[in-house]
Amino acid sequence: MIKKGILSVVAVSFLAISAYAADKLITPESLSLRKSNIVDESKVAPLDAKYTSKAPGTAKTIERSYENAPPLIPHSLDGLVPITKKNNQCLGCHMPNVAKGVGATPIPESHFTDFRPSTKVVNGKIIKDGKAVENGTDVTIAKFKKLKKLNPARYNCTQCHVPQANVKPLVKNTFKPIFSNDKLKHKSDLIKVIDKGVK
Ligand code: HEC
Ligand code: HEC
Repeated sequence: MIKKGILSVVAVSFLAISAYAADKLITPESLSLRKSNIVDESKVAPLDAKYTSKAPGTAKTIERSYENAPPLIPHSLDGLVPITKKNNQCLGCHMPNVAKGVGATPIPESHFTDFRPSTKVVNGKIIKDGKAVENGTDVTIAKFKKLKKLNPARYNCTQCHVPQANVKPLVKNTFKPIFSNDKLKHKSDLIKVIDKGVK
């Protein structure tokens, strides 16, 4: 008798769970934080975000998101983007030889450094930093090379540095950075610590 009783309780709860699950059908809208259909976004209007209108030279720098994070752009980008092959106005104020004069943070040494190994194919053999290797995609720690010019891999500044808009985040960010020293809240020292722990 008791066994039967338990079995029917199990059966009833199973039915109840299935009914609940059927009720909670996953729809393309329910997976979207914007409550729009994630399969077809053709009708979703971009968020009407208000970016800062402060011209360069009148903005206040923003505390770094974490130690050695790419700093956020505190000033307006009106007329400065898109960055093209022929026109990169960021350089006009942020290159180390001009930055001080306009009160901008100079582009750091890390952007004038090549961190990648030089990989060439010679007579069908893969040569990485002068040595033949089996597999060109193997991870090797390259010798950092100081460059006289800005590393072209850093040319497209807005790939890493972004402006901020005053919008309500859909998901609250609870991340809290810990800085090893207070100065690093407004400055980076990546080039000095880049091989910390790997040498
Ligand atoms: C007319 C000069 C000028 C131009 C052009 C300019 N900036 Fe700036 N930038 C500044 C100044 C000055 C500051 C310091 C904040 C301020 O006074 O507005 C600054 C601050 C920054 C910061 C924050 C640095 C920190 O230490 O927190 C970043 C990142 C930045 N700019 C990136 C860019 C990028 C990317 C571009 C190109 C799209 C650009 N800037 C174009 C003058 C300029
Ligand atoms: C591939 C990503 C990337 C690109 C592209 C890039 N940066 Fe950075 N930038 C970073 C990171 C990461 C840091 C912080 C660590 C460091 O100093 O390297 C940084 C730091 C900086 C700083 C702060 C330096 C300091 O002393 O605190 C400035 C200014 C800056 N970048 C300007 C620029 C400008 C201007 C461009 C375009 C010419 C650019 N960056 C392109 C990733 C990038």
